[in-house]
Amino acid sequence: MTDRPAKTVYLETMGCQMNVLDSELVLGQLRRAGYCLTDQFKTADLVLLNTCSVRRHAEDKVYSRLGEIGSAQRRSGRRDQIVGVIGCMAERDRAGLLEKCPQVDILCGPNELNQIPKLVLEVTESRKRAIALSDDRSRKIPVEQRSAQLDSLEALDLSRELGPEASRVQAYVRVQRGCDKFCTYCVVPFTRGPERSRPPSHIVSEAKLLVDQGMMEITLLGQTVNSYVHTENGRTVRFAELLEMVAQVPGLERLRFVTSFPADFAEDILCAMRDLPQVCEYLHLPAQSGSNRVLRDMKRQHTVEHYDELIAKAREIVPGINLAGDFIVGFVGETEDEFAESVALVERTQYKNIFVFKYSPRPGTAADRRQVDDVPNAVKRRRNTELLAVQERISLANNGKLIGREVEILVEGYSKAAEKLRRQEEPEEARPGGPQGETLARTSGAPDTRIPRPTRSQLTGRTRGDQIVVYDGPASDIGRLKRVRITAASALTLHGTSV
Ligand code: 5AD
Ligand code: SF4
Repeated sequence: MTDRPAKTVYLETMGCQMNVLDSELVLGQLRRAGYCLTDQFKTADLVLLNTCSVRRHAEDKVYSRLGEIGSAQRRSGRRDQIVGVIGCMAERDRAGLLEKCPQVDILCGPNELNQIPKLVLEVTESRKRAIALSDDRSRKIPVEQRSAQLDSLEALDLSRELGPEASRVQAYVRVQRGCDKFCTYCVVPFTRGPERSRPPSHIVSEAKLLVDQGMMEITLLGQTVNSYVHTENGRTVRFAELLEMVAQVPGLERLRFVTSFPADFAEDILCAMRDLPQVCEYLHLPAQSGSNRVLRDMKRQHTVEHYDELIAKAREIVPGINLAGDFIVGFVGETEDEFAESVALVERTQYKNIFVFKYSPRPGTAADRRQVDDVPNAVKRRRNTELLAVQERISLANNGKLIGREVEILVEGYSKAAEKLRRQEEPEEARPGGPQGETLARTSGAPDTRIPRPTRSQLTGRTRGDQIVVYDGPASDIGRLKRVRITAASALTLHGTSV
């Protein structure tokens, strides 16, 4: 032990759940190297941005954050702060970052994150930039080298140690790295490299370790999680079997998985969902479009008919299943009629929720190389709003049906609104009141119900079907399964009272 004050790291995470998990692993390594987490980037010794390249907008945000970091450094005259860009954007935009951002000291791709402590040390000692990128190398390098790198990445995943900031309720476990689908719009196969499934024994021991530390819910992560397949000593494990293996971890209450790839989705997974009590009735199955022409151009490998059939089968085999989807609007050449087919698909499917994205051309992808981004931004924006409005109406109607019913939730912590109030430490009576602080939830067949205003003790949890429920309760409810009666509903949130 030394009595030197601990060094501080500021770590900002953008993008998907895979990045959230990667950040947790990076933080674990840095903690072992003597760092502690801070939420103040200006005073931090080390600033890391864990980035996303899926859309241009996400990358623009990184440049603007780097701008803020640079000017704070200039204002304070600080020269010893180390700044790292890690994750997908480091991999995709190496040249741009190095050229435009002199304040960047470290670039580290998503397949090199085990090298972070080494890179930080290198910069500290040499004050020169330190870079660890795969440069798409993982697709070309010899197998022996690739497996050495994989071994260290596996060691990193297996080294999980939850810090004080980690959730005590739910955790992610990676089952796959990378992606081999090459949907024509998507940059992920380039930034995260080829698809590789992790050994089932590693996944199960990681899950055990997490449940032993108190986790009640585990979400298995993969870009195409259902395509999971691992062969070892002549034995092949596919995703349905993996679910069964993880579900057997003693003490695990709930098991989820994201994201599924429709073209590879087999019925045995639905049967596993039905038969394993731990596996939640929730499926994130991105369609991306409701038009076969667009799907073909996106190289999604499924048709609208196949998707509809899959949804019907899911509802038949797993009663009460909740579905979530992703849609891209304004993909190359998307006509009004083709967009209307996406609207129709959303209407038919009755998702619990959808994520809608305006097509964003990504350098290096097939769509960007071969096709012109010909749908004007204003049209993309309008389609985005329209599709979301259709879903909002559906969500509101379906959530309204739950008013008066009891649901079981796993309580995760304080709601965002409660956390904000607690941070402000503002006395409740001092908050502005009046009708503008309330939302009116009009639901067909249900009475108009006023949504209560959040309090400092508002807790949030999720149902097995992934519906968000907020209610007022004691902190001791966190990490427990609770029954809540639903009293009001908006499109995204159910409000209830403890039963
Ligand atoms: N433009 C817009 N949306 C995209 N997505 C992936 N690539 C792009 C892109 N280039 C969306 C897809 C995917 C989600 C994670 O992001 O809908 O499912
Ligand atoms: Fe991207 Fe398609 Fe792979 Fe998903 S399946 S990560 S959209 S290439």
